[in-house]
Amino acid sequence: MEEINKELFEKVVKIAQSRGFVYNSSSIYGGLRSSYDYGPLGAVLKKNIAENWWKSLYSHSELKIYPIDTAIIQSTSVWKASGHLSEFSDDLVECKICNSRFRADLLDTVSCECDNPEFTEPKKFNLMFSTNIGPTNDENSNVYLRPETAQGIFINFENVQRTMRAKLPFGIANIGKSFRNEITPGQFIFRTREFEQMEIEFFCKLEDSSKWFEFWKEARMQWYLNLGISQDYLRFREHSQNELAHYAKKTVDIEFLYPWGWGELEGIADRGIFDIEAHQNASGKDISYFDTEENIKIVPNVIEPAAGLTRTLFALLCATYKEDNVNNETRNFFTFNFNIAPIQIGILPLSKKENLIKLANEINNLLLVKYRTELDVTQSIGKRYRRQDEIGTPFCITIDFESLEDGKVTIRDRDTMQQQRVSIEKLLNFFDKD
Ligand code: GAP
Repeated sequence: MEEINKELFEKVVKIAQSRGFVYNSSSIYGGLRSSYDYGPLGAVLKKNIAENWWKSLYSHSELKIYPIDTAIIQSTSVWKASGHLSEFSDDLVECKICNSRFRADLLDTVSCECDNPEFTEPKKFNLMFSTNIGPTNDENSNVYLRPETAQGIFINFENVQRTMRAKLPFGIANIGKSFRNEITPGQFIFRTREFEQMEIEFFCKLEDSSKWFEFWKEARMQWYLNLGISQDYLRFREHSQNELAHYAKKTVDIEFLYPWGWGELEGIADRGIFDIEAHQNASGKDISYFDTEENIKIVPNVIEPAAGLTRTLFALLCATYKEDNVNNETRNFFTFNFNIAPIQIGILPLSKKENLIKLANEINNLLLVKYRTELDVTQSIGKRYRRQDEIGTPFCITIDFESLEDGKVTIRDRDTMQQQRVSIEKLLNFFDKD
C-alpha cells in the first residue's frame, strides 16, 4: 500500500501548471477561484482519456452501447422530474465569526481559519447553476446548467430505443461538461464547479440488474488499471443507506488514494426505475420499453457507471508521478502509457548543425503521421531528456553525427533510461509494438 503523501500534491500541481497541463483560469485578471483551463498537454491528455473510455465501451462483444451527445441546457421540467431541483443539495454551515461557508460533511478536510470557529446549524444549499435564456430575465426564462450528463440519456431513452431499434440489455453513453455550484470546491481539479463527466446508463431487466451491477464494477475497475493506475491506488467502497443519492438503490464507489487520502473517483449506482418512471410521470409520455419476447411494456432497470473525466486526469497524474535519482539529481517523470501520453516520442538532434536538423525533421515527418511527436532542438541533451520525462514522454530519439553515416538513431526508454540503436527504416514498426 502506498503511503499518503501530501508533498505529492504540491509537486503534481506545480508540474501540471508549469508544463502546460493545467492553467489557473482568467489568470491575467487574477484568476477565478477553482476554475481551470487545460493547456496543450492537458487538453491532449484529457482527449486521450476520453477516447480510451469510448474505446473500452466497444471492446466487449456482448455489450451494445450507443453514444450520445446531449445539451447542457435542458428544459427545467427535466430537473423538476429528476428531483434535482428539490433534492440536489449539500448541507451548508457558516462560521459565525468570519461568515465563511463550508460543506458540513467536509469539515474534517477543509476548515475555517478562525482560531475557535463556531458554526451555524446545517441548512440545505442547492447545487444547480441557474441562468436565463432569451432577452427577458424572468421566471419563465430561468433555466439550469446540467449537474450531470445522465439526465440527457434518460430523456433520450425512447429516442435511442426507437431510432436504433435497441433491444435490452443496452447502454447509452454520454460525455461532457457538468456544472455544480459546489460550496467547497478545491484540491486543484479534484472538485471544481465546472467539470467533465463520462457516464453510462445501462438498461436491463430487473432480474438481471445484480449481474450487470457486478459486471460494471469489474469492467470499470479494469479500465482504471488498463489506463495505468496501479491497484494500490484503487478500491471499492459501498455507500451506507444514509449517504445514498435520492435516486439510488445501491452505490459502490471506485475510490482513489489521493495525496490526502481515499476519495471518490467514480460511482456505480443501481438507479432502479427511478428516472425513466419519473420522466414518464412528469411528461405524460410513454417512454417505456416494449418487450417483444414477453409481449409487455416494461420500465427497464438502470445500472449507472458515472466517472469524472477531469478527476480521472488528476488521479492519473498522482498515480503515475515518479521520482528517481540520476547523477545525484532528482528526476521527475509521469509513467503514462504509450497510448495516453500527450507526447509519445521526443525527437532530439544532438546539435543544431544543419544536416542533423534536416534528418531530425525527416524522422519527425515519418513519425508524426502515426504518433504524437515533439521535435526539440533547444538546450543540452540532458535538459531536454528531463523535460520530456517531466511531461511523461515514453520514448526519446536522439540523432547524432553517426546517424548520418549508419542510418541509425538512439531510442531512450523513459522508465528504464536504457538506450538502443535502431535503424531509421525500422522506427515506425518499433513503436507499433506498444
Ligand atoms: N449521474 C450520477 C452522478 O453524477 P456523482 O457521483 O455525483 O454521480 C460522478 O458524479 C462523478 O463525477 C464523480 O465520481 C466524480 O468523478 C465526478 N464529479 C462529481 N462532482 C465533481 C466536481 N465537482 N468536480 C470534479 N468532478 C466531479
